[in-house]
Amino acid sequence: MNLALHNNKPREQWASRTGFILAAMGSAVGLGNIWRFSYVAGESGGGAFLLIYLLCILIIGIPIIMAEFTIGRRSQQDVVGSFESLSSGGAWRYAGLLGVTAAFMILSFYAVISGWIMHYFIQYLNGSFWTAPAEGYEGYFVSFTGSFTQSILWHFLFMALVIIIVMLGVKKGIELSNKILMPLLGVLLIVLAGYSLTLGGAAEGLSFLFTPDWSAFSDPAVYLAAMGQAFFSLSLGMGTMITYGSYLSKKEQLPGAAFSVAGLDTGFAILAGVMIFPAVFAFGIDPSSGPGLVFMVLPDIFNNIAAGGIVGLGFFFLLAAAALSSAISILEVAVAFFMRKFNWSRIRAALVIGTIIFLIGIPSSLGFGPWAGVTIIGENGILDSIDFIASNILLPLGGLIIALFVGWSWKTVDALRESDFGQTTIGYIWLFILRFIAPIAILLIFLSSIGLF
Ligand code: PHE
Ligand code: NA
Repeated sequence: MNLALHNNKPREQWASRTGFILAAMGSAVGLGNIWRFSYVAGESGGGAFLLIYLLCILIIGIPIIMAEFTIGRRSQQDVVGSFESLSSGGAWRYAGLLGVTAAFMILSFYAVISGWIMHYFIQYLNGSFWTAPAEGYEGYFVSFTGSFTQSILWHFLFMALVIIIVMLGVKKGIELSNKILMPLLGVLLIVLAGYSLTLGGAAEGLSFLFTPDWSAFSDPAVYLAAMGQAFFSLSLGMGTMITYGSYLSKKEQLPGAAFSVAGLDTGFAILAGVMIFPAVFAFGIDPSSGPGLVFMVLPDIFNNIAAGGIVGLGFFFLLAAAALSSAISILEVAVAFFMRKFNWSRIRAALVIGTIIFLIGIPSSLGFGPWAGVTIIGENGILDSIDFIASNILLPLGGLIIALFVGWSWKTVDALRESDFGQTTIGYIWLFILRFIAPIAILLIFLSSIGLF
């Protein structure tokens, strides 16, 4: 049975295997590696967080990327369609809807932060950030994000870009947009990490990041934060990798792609940590400053470097590009679903859904200005609360269902064949992880964080 026959038009596909891998990498590498990784690590105490994060990547993340690729390529459908067509009805399809919901939530705040990044890029472009503003970079950040019109303008511009690229489609839009930019970002990150190590905060910064504080291991919140960060950073649990896998023809090799995406993404996160934390300590900034952390630290670094204005310009440009390729992948999850479900054109789906997501993002933006006092979950403001629910709860929950789906509802031979693992030891290890290890780990972290033990 050819499942792709649900549509009357032939479905789009990647132009090449490298196109697919680059797009998957482009989705993974984004603000999650630099902005979110550093502030969550900073709030969660550093070293212990990093260790648990790496474990989550290894025993939950990589197996689930493989599961998502496998589901997508087999079904050739969007996330909801995948679960519907590969199961005989039942509750599995709710995993797909959960993914679409997470996509709306995540992109809504992702676009707000990305808008800030774009604004910072412009500040370097027009030279205003080449010297510290009168109120200092930290003061500037507070007043900029506090201004509703400023923040909303950049939020809007960013969403417009995302919508346009998604309208252009799988090959022209998504695949083309990140071929040169990612390697450049990697190089710049290495150079800046090296520089940051000379700033005088290196010893403190590195020990913060790499020396686990053993008491943190008994704090369930650190586990939940690390697991959520792993899912967020790898773009997992909401069907991004299912959707991207669905534009793949049958002749590709999935395991290599999964390992390279995870390896690269983790490399970017660690490098970002090595760049940020020495500088955090050198400039006396509190590592637990929250979502504003990189916006306060990075300009200080650039301000201290010779030709720092140009470096800052390059850095914020590349970070904006990385954010764009991730945002595209989030919108694509919802767009692919609405295109099939309601028979919408790509242009219509991108416009309608993109606009709705822009509107949903406005409260997150307001949370740094007029609604600054509003807290929803614990001490968390609006943006942090939406992020918490989506990244720490919905994504791992989606991942849990994806693992169970491939692990238990597929025949062993099918799973091994469709994943390209074949009857190999690593293939059986993969299935064992999907059946037992990953689901149990996710459940344990959930249960401990609601205080069950
Ligand atoms: N992985 C992206 C990042 O690190 C964010 C993302 C999350 C993308 C979920 C897709 C899905 O920035
Ligand atoms: Na990432």
